[in-house]
Amino acid sequence: MAETTHQRVKVKVWDGWIRLVHWAIAVLLGASWWTASTGRMEWHMLSGQAILALLLFRIAWGFLGSETARFSRFLRSPLAGLRHLRHLHRREPDTEIGHNAAGGWMVLVLLCAMLVQAVSGLFTDDGILARGPLARSVEPATADAARSLHLLTFDLVLVVVALHILAVLAYALLKRQDLVRPMVTGFKRLPTAMAGMAPRMGSPWLALALLCLAAGVVVAIARQG
Ligand code: HEM
Repeated sequence: MAETTHQRVKVKVWDGWIRLVHWAIAVLLGASWWTASTGRMEWHMLSGQAILALLLFRIAWGFLGSETARFSRFLRSPLAGLRHLRHLHRREPDTEIGHNAAGGWMVLVLLCAMLVQAVSGLFTDDGILARGPLARSVEPATADAARSLHLLTFDLVLVVVALHILAVLAYALLKRQDLVRPMVTGFKRLPTAMAGMAPRMGSPWLALALLCLAAGVVVAIARQG
């Protein structure tokens, strides 16, 4: 979908599912941290399971979804990522439809770190307040290792999220590119020459089916507890 305004063309780059998953995960990560640090472990496990369902959906959408959601589209070579970063200081108009070469790698790291965080939580047993739904299905030593991993990965997730937000700020300050508005509205204003380059959006019915499937898998796992 594209609409021309003042020598720029408004192009839909992010579908509603990506935006929904993004902001829901951002809120749920905060909720997971708060509930864990205030001992509300029932709620912590619920928010962790919701994050897991969203991640499973996002991974499936990365293979079957809209063009800009697809891993095959935004994962370029690490060299292309580094080349992109060389121009970070340069003020220039935004011509990216979807993630840039460096951002793509950051997305992969974010998704992987959060996935390890959520999966390790399923096997974690703190021996007092909370036991993940799969903790009883493994040896106590494995549940201990999962707990250590769960604690360690949280710090890693915090570091990667901080880097992510710093990168978005750097784009705003150095390149004068507002990446946040498109992640809210779905639309970017791109040079008119790019009018015909609107990415193909995935089927909403497929998205809904994948989201239900991801939620179903997580509910089935939660029932093991
Ligand atoms: C709190 C935790 C956050 C997490 C875990 C997170 C994670 C992610 C992930 C996984 C993506 C890729 C989206 C996709 O392809 O599905 C992404 C993209 C993005 N995020 Fe976040 N995010 C967080 C917070 C924020 C905040 C606070 C902002 C705004 C300041 C922000 C701005 C963006 C933008 C603008 C993009 C798109 C970047 C681009 O144009 O390539 N994120 N984020």
